[in-house]
Amino acid sequence: MAQLDTLDLVVLLVLLAASAAYFTKGTYWAIPKDPYATAYTNGNGSKASASRNILEKMDESGKNCIIFYGSQTGTAEDYASRLAKEGASRFGLKTMTADLEEYDYDNLDAIPDDKVVFFVLATYGEGEPTDNAVDFNEFISNDEPSFSGAGINSEKPLSGLKYVTFGLGNNTYEHYNSMVRKVDKSLTRFGASRIGTAGEGDDGAGTMEEDFLAWKEPMWTELTIAMGLEEREAVYEAAFTVTEKPDMDADEDPVYLGEPNKNHLEGKSKGPYNANNPYIAPIAESRELFSDKTRNCVHADIDISGSNLSYTTGDHIAVWPTNAGKEVERFLNILGLDSKRNMVIEVKGADATAKVPFPSPTTYDAVVRYHMEIGGPVSRQFVASLAPFAPNDSIKAEMVKIGGDKDYFAKMVADRHVNIAQLLEIMSNGAPWTSIPFSIFAESLHKLQPRYYSISSSSLTQKNKVSITAVVESIERPGAPHIVKGVTTNYLLALKQKQHGDPDPDPHGLKYNLTGPRNKYDGVHVPVHIRHSNFRLPSNPSTPVIMVGPGTGVAPFRGFVQERAAQAKAGQDVGKTILFFGCRHPDQDFLYKEEWEVRFACFLMLFDLPANSVAGVQSRPWRQIRNCHGLLSGRRPKGLRAATAEGACCRDQQASRAAWLLLRMW
Ligand SMILES: Cc1cc2nc3c(=O)[nH]c(=O)nc-3n(C[C@H](O)[C@H](O)[C@H](O)COP(=O)(O)OP(=O)(O)OC[C@H]3O[C@@H](n4cnc5c(N)ncnc54)[C@H](O)[C@@H]3O)c2cc1C
Ligand SMILES: Cc1cc2nc3c(=O)[nH]c(=O)nc-3n(C[C@H](O)[C@H](O)[C@H](O)COP(=O)(O)O)c2cc1C
Repeated sequence: MAQLDTLDLVVLLVLLAASAAYFTKGTYWAIPKDPYATAYTNGNGSKASASRNILEKMDESGKNCIIFYGSQTGTAEDYASRLAKEGASRFGLKTMTADLEEYDYDNLDAIPDDKVVFFVLATYGEGEPTDNAVDFNEFISNDEPSFSGAGINSEKPLSGLKYVTFGLGNNTYEHYNSMVRKVDKSLTRFGASRIGTAGEGDDGAGTMEEDFLAWKEPMWTELTIAMGLEEREAVYEAAFTVTEKPDMDADEDPVYLGEPNKNHLEGKSKGPYNANNPYIAPIAESRELFSDKTRNCVHADIDISGSNLSYTTGDHIAVWPTNAGKEVERFLNILGLDSKRNMVIEVKGADATAKVPFPSPTTYDAVVRYHMEIGGPVSRQFVASLAPFAPNDSIKAEMVKIGGDKDYFAKMVADRHVNIAQLLEIMSNGAPWTSIPFSIFAESLHKLQPRYYSISSSSLTQKNKVSITAVVESIERPGAPHIVKGVTTNYLLALKQKQHGDPDPDPHGLKYNLTGPRNKYDGVHVPVHIRHSNFRLPSNPSTPVIMVGPGTGVAPFRGFVQERAAQAKAGQDVGKTILFFGCRHPDQDFLYKEEWEVRFACFLMLFDLPANSVAGVQSRPWRQIRNCHGLLSGRRPKGLRAATAEGACCRDQQASRAAWLLLRMW
């Protein structure tokens, strides 16, 4: 390692949090932001009024309660919409939810005290705001924000403002829930009055939902007092109207059968391709990476030539999934909608502030297959809200009990890992629930989100072909009646099977509709867009690099290694490149085994992890890292720093700790 001593280089310790698929089975890897957030607002795809003036908007629509959300992957947005629904149905509040980035904040000081403003805020990165809350954070963190001047008290410009806050965070991060804490502090500093406690939900402890439920009851009690409200028996008020159009045929041109927007509907899909507008990309090649017959890991090369999409090594690609046919059938059957699956429906916001999360006219089948997250975990509050629509009184009582008792909910729902249709099936023994308004699902289920994958190729070596490395989610839990099948990874597996000539690609009987709406994905195509990230190799190739990426955490590093191999081949001075990779068994899941040796003078250390052993994961790499430290000599090179894959899989605390340990040891 004399080389390092003499070169006195900045060593970039590139650390990718270990494969979430490996250690957390995908649970912690975030789902990106709402693809329709800007595409479809206010019913039927029309844009919300362009006004950024929140007060004007509230007055125009007769609202007295606005619920702002700062959300990256939809949870805060979901909580905001649940609060809006509950505020309206239980307390008669005139509620609306609002994306923080769609409004200005200068007239927060002009909001009168007969109105209330909620802030539901997630924290990201190093205690930072979500993308849609960046401007708000900047505004409110300012020592002297430029309020409109409507507040009477210039020292306390927000003294007329009543507000409520709930934060979403993860205690394993250093800056736990720092967004909501910061905002709460600023609002108080400017004289605003908080109603209830500043709630905090903890994803890290797995208690987010229960934290939310426990916080909101006393908050509602205080709010009823502060605003002179009266609680009434909750009546469901649909945020959307769903009108069946028996006179229309599903094949008619204006009917969306799963197309994400008008251009796609009209067969004139064009760029720019982004989070609102996917590119239907051909899969050039795909293959299985595991030799272990019980598990799958799909490698796919996605062809983006001609799309004007581009990527840089380290970026992410988003795959827009389709729900499995098996789950679509289950969902439609249990709601008694099977025979009406191709009925054309028009879905509109009940008022101008309600966003419909998909385009219409459409069909029940298309909404369920392409737009709703029907396979995800079920919330306790959602179970309670479905109780009034149970097929009979005893099922209703059971639903009320599950919705009201957190231990019973854990036993009957959470521990069984059932999705909503599976739960309804179990509850009614398969008898259909025909009274549930379809709008409830459109309001309460998350939108089917694109899933992100770290691009596992280098843009230097394959500019138009994006590689992904996706471990297929199939999770069996003791006592659970169903195996949880990841939506997107099983979809990719089915596409791979189709590409390899399987006439009836059918991973685990899931039956995906691989040809897409109106056969627009025929051949082997997948809707995608690319998200640029800050996860980069050092700009100077001679900088040594250490990478830690077990399981599919190795994906971006395959791209980095490809890149440095190409640079070395082109005669550039390329620094030492060390990769820590982990797998369960070298004969089963040693990803890209054949590539590493030929690619580059890459120093690979493999640590075999006993299956499902977290202890193994913790101990062995640490030993290896110590060895690596010895290898690099005792001197800490000037400027050594640790970089985590920002916005990528940087939630893995073990990998972070390992990186910092390495730094400290130096
Ligand atoms: C920036 C980024 C990069 C990523 N890179 C990669 C990569 O390179 N390779 C890779 O393989 N993955 C990667 N991921 C993860 C990937 O985005 C997906 O989260 C993962 O593939 C799972 O998607 P899925 O649709 O198959 O599973 P989902 O359907 O989203 O399910 C995921 C998990 O949620 C839980 N779950 C689902 N339904 C239920 C239920 N009803 N009850 C209880 N639990 C349930 C289960 O644990 C399940 O395994 C990345 C994520 C991010 C954010
Ligand atoms: C990449 C990433 C970074 C995060 N950083 C933090 C953090 O610094 N502090 C914190 O308390 N929570 C952090 N979290 C947890 C999120 O705030 C939490 O999961 C929240 O529920 C996400 O809400 P959303 O779905 O509305 O975006 C992070 C989550 C991810 C995926």
